[in-house]
Amino acid sequence: MSAKKRVLSAIQPTGEIHFGNYFGAVQNWVKLQEDYDCVYGVVDYHAMTMPFQPNKLRENTWSLMFNLVALGVKPENLFIQSLVPEHAELNWIFNCFCSYGRLQLMTQFKDKSQQSETKSDGFISVGLFDYPVLQAADILIYKADFVPVGKDQDQHLELTRMIANRFNLQVDKDYFVLPKTLHSDAPKIRSLADPTRKMSKSAGEKHYLSVFEEEKRLRKKVMSAVTDSGEMIGTEEMSEGVKNLFTIIKACGHTDVHDDFMTRYKDGSIRYGDFKGAAYEALLSLNSKFRENKEEVMANKKEIKYQIKNSSAEIRKIAQQTIKEVKDLTGLMNVKF
Ligand code: TRP
Repeated sequence: MSAKKRVLSAIQPTGEIHFGNYFGAVQNWVKLQEDYDCVYGVVDYHAMTMPFQPNKLRENTWSLMFNLVALGVKPENLFIQSLVPEHAELNWIFNCFCSYGRLQLMTQFKDKSQQSETKSDGFISVGLFDYPVLQAADILIYKADFVPVGKDQDQHLELTRMIANRFNLQVDKDYFVLPKTLHSDAPKIRSLADPTRKMSKSAGEKHYLSVFEEEKRLRKKVMSAVTDSGEMIGTEEMSEGVKNLFTIIKACGHTDVHDDFMTRYKDGSIRYGDFKGAAYEALLSLNSKFRENKEEVMANKKEIKYQIKNSSAEIRKIAQQTIKEVKDLTGLMNVKF
């Protein structure tokens, strides 16, 4: 057994990764691999909770896997949720340790069910309602100590601890570890085209920068970033657009450039054209590396698929052990009785 603490996180297979996702989550996943025993899932069962296309789901799952590997997540730390069906089994058991009233309070459910009501045919699945319980199973099945997620997931983590606690009380044993949320000081990146909103795919092509963005397009998007008319230069104030570019330059690790432009902002000599150019250079330094990695990954697709299937099988062993113990503790049947 390794003495390292375990980290678990997961992401839904919904296509591309933009720089907001990268700085907000994936970069942290990559770093945590140095000090923790990390388990990262692409959660395709979760992706079925909203309208989805069966012929796209598998494709999206693989494409997200390739992207994560190109960004530096180690294949041995990755698994595909549906290759570990024990998640769904534990989900059922946890359904019986979670109150209906408590689930009704989940804000992500309220938001998403409202979206369904307005956007599609109004169909809201039981799966969407039960989503947080499956998430609790994702986390507890690996007895994770830490879960790196955004603040929007705090409520789901609280629910996870409640389920663990109720289970422990019922079986009269401190069986499940109560997982802690890991909030990194990850910078929040905004849309370049409209810095009042966060970078997101749902707002449209202009509003996000893919980590693998083609060079010319990257340049175009960054050079046309919204700033301001320059009235605030030299004052204590800063527009969201300018703040966002500073955040981006810093997040890319170009601290000297960041500090230099900050001095120029304060003494009034900054020129936004140059400033955007610096943001572009900073992003390009990451982006060109990512594109290079991606090319290599795509040239070894078969090998990587094979690795992910193997790592899923390895990670599944942990989940199977937990299920065995949970069945023992709750009076369900194991093969040997
Ligand atoms: N609900 C998470 C999100 O929307 C994704 C997720 C599913 C997750 N299962 C998880 C995150 C387990 C952390 C741990 O981002």
